[in-house]
Amino acid sequence: MTTSASGGPAIVVEGLTKSFGSVQALRGIDFSVERGTILGVLGPNGAGKTTAVRILTTLVRPDGGTALVEGRDVLREPDAVREIIGLAGQSAAIQEELTGRENLEILGRLYHLPKQRSKERAQELLERFELLDAANRPARTYSGGMARRLDLAASLVAEPAVLFLDEPTTGLDPRSRNGMWGIIRDLVSGGTTLLLTTQYLEEADELADEIIVVDHGRVIAAGTSDTLKDKVGGDVVEFGVLDRSRLGAAADAVAELSEVAPMLDPEEAVVAVRVGNQGSKAVVQAVRNLDAAGIETTGLALRRPSLDDVFLALTGHQAAEEEASPKRRRRRRRGAEPEPTRQQGRGR
Ligand SMILES: Nc1ncnc2c1ncn2[C@@H]1O[C@H](COP(=O)(O)OP(=O)(O)OP(=O)(O)O)[C@@H](O)[C@H]1O
Ligand SMILES: [Mg+2]
Repeated sequence: MTTSASGGPAIVVEGLTKSFGSVQALRGIDFSVERGTILGVLGPNGAGKTTAVRILTTLVRPDGGTALVEGRDVLREPDAVREIIGLAGQSAAIQEELTGRENLEILGRLYHLPKQRSKERAQELLERFELLDAANRPARTYSGGMARRLDLAASLVAEPAVLFLDEPTTGLDPRSRNGMWGIIRDLVSGGTTLLLTTQYLEEADELADEIIVVDHGRVIAAGTSDTLKDKVGGDVVEFGVLDRSRLGAAADAVAELSEVAPMLDPEEAVVAVRVGNQGSKAVVQAVRNLDAAGIETTGLALRRPSLDDVFLALTGHQAAEEEASPKRRRRRRRGAEPEPTRQQGRGR
């Protein structure tokens, strides 16, 4: 295979498999990432996201399949791959007792930058990631958001052409997350190719050019956010039910609007029904049926499917299932509440 042509994919993965003992982490996944774009790898805990990243960054050997980064084979040319990639996230290494600046300078030296250039690069990155104020403090004193920014800065010391970010915003508050999204967009506008894993539908929606949905070690869907949403089959009519005890009756009343059973959220007393492209007609029909059944609603609206709906439609379960109650997910989907934080190492 030829390398580094200006067009074409920067990452090509075919039939990757990997087991850990009896756990099949990857059951044959395929995908590619065009140069200068962002691929979002979306999936719940244990889906196989980190395993895929570790294979692509030469940290783990696959059992089968091939993976090429800028045309270099991760198994046959791991050194060549390492030269052109950066990795930040669940497995990156920051030395806690060193300051942010020292961490970056040392990495520069590890990448064989001359001493002066290492210093300059550290300074550039500290500025860019708004870490100058904290530059001379030990990394162990950094907040979660600062630690994440330092981790990302560290992955950029050598100006990699292809960057892997494993859950870059997990556990960050909304402000830090927005900051990180801005940084990520800037990187890619500068030509970097990015593979980003996330459990957050909103994040994939926000950042990714293409998304693959991974569940139990398989790619269960691939496409842009929009094409994935279209797969759900058009719009969704959603409404709250005033009298909770009538939730079932409410679902029955709108069942005829869809070939798919309505989705119930008992905790919030909300019903959602996929109505295809019937849109406003379906809204009118829903109102009529509910009225005829004597059911009072608390707001009824037509909305585009969310990636949450996509995930549910594809897998029968919601993403980040263990992370949040349906209620919290619902609020999050409406953008009213930040993602929950996860108990997890900060990637060192
Ligand atoms: N080194 C390992 N030894 C044993 N099992 C492993 C190892 N690494 C991963 N696994 C298992 O492989 C499966 C996929 O794990 P992986 O870390 O790739 O998931 P993930 O999608 O990154 O999840 P998360 O969102 O929690 O980070 C899980 O069942 C996990 O327990
Ligand atoms: Mg992971």
